[in-house]
Amino acid sequence: MAQSNKDDHQGAFSAGSEERVTVSSVPISRESRVAVASLRVEAAWLDRLVVAACEMPVASGEAAVVEFLVRALSEIFPECGVGACFVPQPPPSASTPDLHPTEQRLFKYVPEGEERRAVGMDPTRLFPGYQFERVLDVEAGATTLHLASDDPQLEVDGSPMMHVVRRGVLAMSRGLAFARVHARATADARELRALSSHMMQAEKLASLGQLAAGVVHELNNPLTSIVAYTDWLIRKQGPSGDPDSIERLRRIGESSTRILRFTRDLVAYARPSSEVPVLVAIHNVIEQALAFCEHVIAEHGANVERVFADQLPPVRGMPEQLAQVFVNLFTNACHAMPETGGRLGVSSTLAPDGRVVVAVEDNGHGIAGEHLTSIFTPFFTTKGDGRGTGLGLSIVRNIMDNHSAEIRAERSPEGGARFVLMFPSGT
Ligand SMILES: Nc1ncnc2c1ncn2[C@@H]1O[C@H](COP(=O)(O)OP(=O)(O)OP(=O)(O)O)[C@@H](O)[C@H]1O
Ligand SMILES: [Mg+2]
Repeated sequence: MAQSNKDDHQGAFSAGSEERVTVSSVPISRESRVAVASLRVEAAWLDRLVVAACEMPVASGEAAVVEFLVRALSEIFPECGVGACFVPQPPPSASTPDLHPTEQRLFKYVPEGEERRAVGMDPTRLFPGYQFERVLDVEAGATTLHLASDDPQLEVDGSPMMHVVRRGVLAMSRGLAFARVHARATADARELRALSSHMMQAEKLASLGQLAAGVVHELNNPLTSIVAYTDWLIRKQGPSGDPDSIERLRRIGESSTRILRFTRDLVAYARPSSEVPVLVAIHNVIEQALAFCEHVIAEHGANVERVFADQLPPVRGMPEQLAQVFVNLFTNACHAMPETGGRLGVSSTLAPDGRVVVAVEDNGHGIAGEHLTSIFTPFFTTKGDGRGTGLGLSIVRNIMDNHSAEIRAERSPEGGARFVLMFPSGT
């Protein structure tokens, strides 16, 4: 009578039990030595199994390990049907298992010419054509090893054949664990390489920033001269001077003063933060950041809309760091904007609990729902070709934390992005 025997004898070597047995933890008593000696296991079987265990292709993944050991066991027992039903385990970090469908894979080997024995309608068996089929758990609920034969030895738990098969199960279980460790280590190494290349890019940008700050600093002296001499020339023209020339000189003076102010602010911004909190009028910081971003805003043809509350209390903080927050937010907004008709909205309100709330929103492509939590993670960027290091918002979050302030990202009503910043009142 054909029968399938789901193996539930969890012996010392059973790999399916929750408490996994490792080779070193298996006690070797005198009795067990005598028992094994009286088993009369063929040395060739054990030799083949030991070689297979040593050569398991753990670097090629779990399925390859299962297939390899099934093949090795089918070579040890050429007259049997040997197979496995393998269900890959979802990665431990997968929060939504549905995204990682666990697809079952079957591996079957039967002696040549006996292929018909491995087909049939019985869903609990891989080899319905054999009289006996043992099913051993390799990993509970996931992978099973199947051995089918017409030999009743298969039904005897203590038989030499089952002795070898159980060791095959143990090898497979360890092989699967090693394959998983290997896959995790490979993924970690890949991530580390990506991080290190991001770090290099960030370092490069930081040194470029220092160079730029140095160059800007050098511009200060000639600019100061231009402003001073323009002023002198205007005064020299006197009240009866040529109005056209005076107007031109006035424009030169105005433009130079603007560049001078900008370069001074930029150098102050690049200077390491003073780390001493002071009372800051948030609108001034926003205006300064908008001035820094004038170029990127103009480049994207964006229209800046300010809706500022009257009479906002000051916040307590480090002005350069706060400017850095808004520079990052304005730059990101500009990068996301459409080519024409870009809108950058900055608004401020006083919350009923006394906090100062600033919202920065744009009408760009917005942030995909699944990215809303990752955007503050260091090195997360959707800007390809090395255009973004992904550090901007993580720095913003750090600065906000330093100020005991909060920031959250959401979708703006127009579909763009909106960042809401909440600062405790400084007074
Ligand atoms: N206003 C925005 N609109 C749409 N997506 C945004 C916006 N702001 C940020 N993002 C998304 O958040 C990601 C992370 O932003 P973050 O400023 O940290 O890095 P980055 O801009 O990509 O690079 P970096 O600022 O270091 O040059 C961006 O790549 C983008 O996908
Ligand atoms: Mg950015």
